[in-house]
Amino acid sequence: MRILNASGCLDALTAPDVARSLDAFVSKTVTPLPREGNAPVRIAETDVGMLNSIGLANPGRDAFVAEALPRLRALGVPVWISVGGFAAHEYAETCAALDDVTIELNLSCPNVEEAADTAAAIVAACRALTNLPLYAKLSPANSDIAEVARAVQGAGADGLSLVNTMRGTALDEETLEPRLGTWSGGLSGPALKPVALAAVYACWRATRMPIVGMGGVMTGRDALELVAVGAQDVALGTVLFRDPEAPQRVRAELAAEVAALGVADVDDVHGVAHEGGLSARLSLTR
Ligand SMILES: Cc1cc2nc3c(=O)[nH]c(=O)nc-3n(C[C@H](O)[C@H](O)[C@H](O)COP(=O)(O)O)c2cc1C
Repeated sequence: MRILNASGCLDALTAPDVARSLDAFVSKTVTPLPREGNAPVRIAETDVGMLNSIGLANPGRDAFVAEALPRLRALGVPVWISVGGFAAHEYAETCAALDDVTIELNLSCPNVEEAADTAAAIVAACRALTNLPLYAKLSPANSDIAEVARAVQGAGADGLSLVNTMRGTALDEETLEPRLGTWSGGLSGPALKPVALAAVYACWRATRMPIVGMGGVMTGRDALELVAVGAQDVALGTVLFRDPEAPQRVRAELAAEVAALGVADVDDVHGVAHEGGLSARLSLTR
């Protein structure tokens, strides 16, 4: 199992040591043209997690490939590039401009419908222009995420990243106005964990694809549970804003959890929630 950061939750160039503590670094979503992102306020904390309305602020594909990417490669960790766009050809053109990275297609971009056929069309367009590993990142807001997962698998995706944020709103205590400039934003953090567990469970059952599980992972126990429902790897998002040492901490906590369960390695727990739980698997292997 590898520990990655969730896209948009770590700036590797300002925090290179945190990036080096990961098994791979995932970039913020890159779009064809530069984007300034949404008007402030763009972050709001709530009791159960965080809301953000960053709006995919990024320097655009050409500047990213020319300036940021060489510096990211120099960090010495495998690099994943999160690719976004507003039409299938935009995603595909960015994929064609990349080399020697893993690609994560952010299929939850504004104005991109995440219906199964749209998601599959984007993946197919990218698959036609690149041989690089392609992960499709899906939103849990879809009413049937397993159907989308099957569709992107059929279109040539190699893996899934699950999950992106869900839409939420927080109000100012006194004025009762929305706290975010865009009134709503993406909800991440602890509130998302049960949603992520359900999405990974459903998509693993439907596809058996490699899955990067994310959503509310704060502890090694959270990571363990994502692996149990079918995640092969786990990504840390919101927790990195609070605890930049979370990669080492989660790894250590995970090792302790695994030891307490009496299994040799976290990979021995992979998918165990689908097979009658841990005791059923252990009775098979002992
Ligand atoms: C501030 C912020 C920025 C984000 N930017 C992106 C992004 O650019 N692309 C993307 O695919 N997901 C983005 N996400 C979503 C995360 O990658 C992740 O899917 C989500 O936060 C759930 O994980 P978490 O609960 O551990 O934070 C962002 C999340 C946050 C909090």
